[in-house]
Amino acid sequence: MSKVTVVGAGNVGATCANVLAFNEVADQVVMLDVKEGVSEGKALDIMQTATLLDFDTKVVGCTNDYAQTAGSDVVVITSGIPRKPGMTREELIGVNAGIVKTVTENILKFSPDAILVVVSNPMDTMTYLTMKSSGLPKNKVIGMGGTLDSSRFKCYLSKALNAPANEIEGLVIGGHGDTTMIPLTRFAQYKGRPVADVLDKAKLDKVVADTMVGGATLTGLLGTSAWYAPGAAAAYLVESILRDQKKVIPCCVSLEGEYGQNDICIGVPVVIGRNGVEEIIDYKLNEEEKALFEKSAAAVRATNAVLTEINIL
Ligand code: LAC
Repeated sequence: MSKVTVVGAGNVGATCANVLAFNEVADQVVMLDVKEGVSEGKALDIMQTATLLDFDTKVVGCTNDYAQTAGSDVVVITSGIPRKPGMTREELIGVNAGIVKTVTENILKFSPDAILVVVSNPMDTMTYLTMKSSGLPKNKVIGMGGTLDSSRFKCYLSKALNAPANEIEGLVIGGHGDTTMIPLTRFAQYKGRPVADVLDKAKLDKVVADTMVGGATLTGLLGTSAWYAPGAAAAYLVESILRDQKKVIPCCVSLEGEYGQNDICIGVPVVIGRNGVEEIIDYKLNEEEKALFEKSAAAVRATNAVLTEINIL
């Protein structure tokens, strides 16, 4: 019996639960929210698609009743407020840090062995907070950002190439921020060829710029944060964990010397399997990429420092 809890039944959490159920990634999915009835309603709505979409996953919802999450293998934390148009992810820290810390404490009371997937923003800092405040080993805390940013990168590449996204390889490392993410164009490929061979520099630069503000573009269009891709990205991570797929997925993890960094959680390519973080892949970055990574890490560190300033860590 595999069990996943999704904390926060907003757009991202509900989409994640929906994808997990539709793909039968777990036997049971528990949705938990602080708003009375929302989780219960969304869980029931999802369950009413079981015969239409042909899945057997059981989805239940509860209002702040952590006992119902007991024994979860994986817990996805989406709690907190989303961005409004014009806001950065970093501006959410004051509200979301307290929420994420409390959620983590409550979750671990009932699921001490769970692997945690952090989605709440600012995601790199929320992952760091979860690591530090829980004392969990570093394999058990995974931030979702790079998973999403990489799928956006491949989406924009597919538009520029007029080719299916699934024929494209590409990854984004660094922080999950409008100015901190690093789409690695040198490693991106279309049908085994470097994308720089098939796209001119101006087009590739535009893909990079569009990817970096991918979330902000959607916030502008939608009036709130995106949810289909963020929810699916979290579910993708959960699937690689529970099915022990050992996929290489860019995500936010604690670094101990890798990429020249310590005491930080930031996006790098990681092998994700049943133990969570199974291996961090040390890509050989060139000088320009290394400089971008260092700049990104410095920006993430500056946001992490706010945790101390507001007495959360
Ligand atoms: C985004 C938010 C979820 O990038 O961080 O859409």
